Amino acid sequence: MPRPGVPDPYRDQARTEGYVARAIYKLKALDEKHRLFQPGQKVLDLGCSPGSWLQYLASRVGPGGLVVGVDLNPPAVKVAPPVYFVPGDVSGLELEAVRAVSDFFDAVVSDMAPRTTGIREVDQQRSLDLARAAWEWAKKLLRPGGLFLVKVFEGPGVEALVRELAAAFKICRRVKPPGSRAASKEIYLLAMNKKKIHHRDTEDTEIHRGK
Ligand SMILES: C[S@@+](CC[C@H](N)C(=O)[O-])C[C@H]1O[C@@H](n2cnc3c(N)ncnc32)[C@H](O)[C@@H]1O
Repeated sequence: MPRPGVPDPYRDQARTEGYVARAIYKLKALDEKHRLFQPGQKVLDLGCSPGSWLQYLASRVGPGGLVVGVDLNPPAVKVAPPVYFVPGDVSGLELEAVRAVSDFFDAVVSDMAPRTTGIREVDQQRSLDLARAAWEWAKKLLRPGGLFLVKVFEGPGVEALVRELAAAFKICRRVKPPGSRAASKEIYLLAMNKKKIHHRDTEDTEIHRGK
């Protein structure tokens, strides 16, 4: 959350470099450390607005790639290929508009955050619900071998989600990039190399499509 009046080198750097949010530096740090994205990839960005991740991802996948952003609110950045925007509520799980652009992705990333109430337990539960909603999308749209990155507020229920991801992917880590404020409960779960078949959703999707 922006905190007016509090000095923030990441916010200043984002302004200088033309990014619409300081969140860019979290994704960039993770990409530099774990080599997440490649030219030509298709990436689904859940909770994409105002759009600094869209800006970064577009530069990483290049003109031969695709970045589809989904959010309740439109991005503040120009939307032009390779970037597409689909308005919507990820919790509602209506995949059709996204599938009309692409029915599989190499990476699904989610920086979704709930509207915070200041009540820790409520905010944590809402954040977990959003992370789980992102995981539902990733189950259906992520190709085998793909990666899933999701923000969540640390607390009850996170360990169970980590265990699910650890079963579905070859690697699953809790990560906290430098741009994430130390005082914040937010962490990211980074799951890499999705296994081919691990649960009914994936099997159903593959059988249904004859793939
Ligand atoms: C921290 S911002 C994302 C910042 C973005 N990564 C960037 O770099 O500009 C969180 C976003 O999640 C979106 N969001 C929250 N709940 C959502 C939901 N249920 N469906 C879609 N988007 C949601 C909010 O509208 C907000 O734009």
